[in-house]
Amino acid sequence: MRHLLDILDLSTDEINSLIETACDIINDPDKYAEKCKRKKLATLFFEPSTRTRLSFEAAMYELGGSVLGFSSSSSSSTSKGESVSDTIKVVSCYADIIAMRHPKEGAPMVASMVSDVPIINAGDGGHNHPTQTLADLLTIYREKGGFNDLTVGLCGDLKFGRTVHSLINALSRYSDIKFVLISPDELKLPDYVTNNVLLKNNIPFEETTDLLGAMPKLDILYMTRVQRERFFNEQDYIRLKDSYILTPDKLEDAKDDLCIMHPLPRVNEISVAVDKDPRACYFKQVLNGKYMRMALILKLLEVE
Ligand code: NCD
Repeated sequence: MRHLLDILDLSTDEINSLIETACDIINDPDKYAEKCKRKKLATLFFEPSTRTRLSFEAAMYELGGSVLGFSSSSSSSTSKGESVSDTIKVVSCYADIIAMRHPKEGAPMVASMVSDVPIINAGDGGHNHPTQTLADLLTIYREKGGFNDLTVGLCGDLKFGRTVHSLINALSRYSDIKFVLISPDELKLPDYVTNNVLLKNNIPFEETTDLLGAMPKLDILYMTRVQRERFFNEQDYIRLKDSYILTPDKLEDAKDDLCIMHPLPRVNEISVAVDKDPRACYFKQVLNGKYMRMALILKLLEVE
């Protein structure tokens, strides 16, 4: 039985094959409409979500399966004091596969140790978010044709942004990738990612606070929200929340084929005026997420 806790649980070949399946689903959705008939997905969201949860649910419905679960820990037995392990043991009696999001880093790993069915990490604290990375990878693949030879700017909250950590891990396996890490000093990429991924693999990167200065060299600009819920102190959040706001004028020196991404939800980081720019890819990313989650569910359930 396979779980998806970390994007590196999938080899690059497996990622290619998920992308191939996702593209086939896009071309011929009817072929997949009954693939998961009588299968049940549980979505256990101990932390708020719109896209990720609904995207998993839409994915399972489009495969002909059904969905059960909860969307906040207050509406589950967690509020009575039940442990994650017990909740998972119970739910794995009802469901064939579980997607879970939890505010504690490592909770999906704990879940995988007691579960009888595959566990998908749908976000654990400020740590990882591998299925958002699958959405991001399909977007990059469709916009850029592949993953090699790209200069990728990551901007905003690189400290707490779990989507950033997973995406860096994923892209670190391709060749000629360069990262430009754009953030305020206090929200820099954690040392464990810089040391264990970038330095360890000799991947070129620069750290800067200057978005405009970085703009001309970027092939991809991945904007992120300052993660309010992970701050200890509201004053720090207020001071940092508007560090970067992408507006059309800031794109003047950007490449014509820049791909602007954001995992969403956005707060202020990208002005709505940018949405009209053909380089804005963040709503395409949402749709790509559904297709990749369909492909992932098929893989983990070992459906042919
Ligand atoms: C992201 C997350 O939950 O980490 N959202 C998502 O899943 N698309 C990003 C965020 O909340 O800022």
